[in-house]
Amino acid sequence: MKTVSTIQEVREIVKKWRQENCSIGFVPTMGYLHEGHESLMKAAKANHDKVVVSIFVNPMQFGKNEDLDTYPRDMEHDSAVCEAIGVDVIFHPSPSEMYGENFYTYVDMDYLTEGLCGKSRPVMFRGVCTVVSKLFNIVQPDKAYFGQKDAQQLAVITRMVKDLNFDLEIVGCPIVREEDGLAKSSRNSYLNADERKAALVLHHALTIAQNLIESGETNALLIKEKMIQEIKKEPLARIDYVEIVDWENIKAIEQIHKSALIALAVFIGKTRLIDNFIHIIK
Ligand code: PAJ
Repeated sequence: MKTVSTIQEVREIVKKWRQENCSIGFVPTMGYLHEGHESLMKAAKANHDKVVVSIFVNPMQFGKNEDLDTYPRDMEHDSAVCEAIGVDVIFHPSPSEMYGENFYTYVDMDYLTEGLCGKSRPVMFRGVCTVVSKLFNIVQPDKAYFGQKDAQQLAVITRMVKDLNFDLEIVGCPIVREEDGLAKSSRNSYLNADERKAALVLHHALTIAQNLIESGETNALLIKEKMIQEIKKEPLARIDYVEIVDWENIKAIEQIHKSALIALAVFIGKTRLIDNFIHIIK
């Protein structure tokens, strides 16, 4: 496994692989890798001759008062994780390598980004779309792997690839959870012991929604209300949003009769956590 920090090095390696007719799988991450990231890397490893993982805490997708400076980082651990899975290249650029001194070009998206995390974090998707576009242009993979944990991000990137004719396929992978149901996240490392317990409220609220839907309930407003009631029982929790949206267009729905995304963002103390499930109607 090689770790490289310049765009030039990645381009040279990829060019050589292409001459050898290798297929390339790509997993973009911000590092502090956990089993959620690992599941994407394993899926890529199973489907491609070569796997590239990027580790880059992208300043452009953080708002002014967000956690860019404290975002957890551990390259030693991340390298060991990638090595064990059989990743071929880690791309670990600096912000100046990615953005240089002057940077004037952005990729942004309307419509799908208006609600959910796009509403609470207005600059995030511009930062995500811009950095992911750059990474796709640098790595030029056949497929790129994203987690359903960030369901809106998965929808946005899938749409961006279609709208801008990127020559690659986006693969969505299921959410990996801790044994007690908490979705794995690099930000879980911010939680103290009490907050870690309180964080389970996200999973509990989603389980309530899932049970209601499975028992035939289609009234989205009623389901949302039950989720909110559950979260309000937890004193350490503060709701950012609880939404039920059409999975096709990420717009709020009142009745569940098409595939729906049930998504929430909740502050546990100062830490903002997200989770969701997608109810597919075939
Ligand atoms: P990051 O939060 O590091 O996540 C990298 C990828 O891992 C994303 O596709 C995310 O959905 C996936 N992931 C995180 N937790 C997961 C879990 N518990 N189960 C399954 N997949 C999980 O998302 C980003 O970084 C950035 O926005 C990025 C796309 C790299 C652009 O900067």
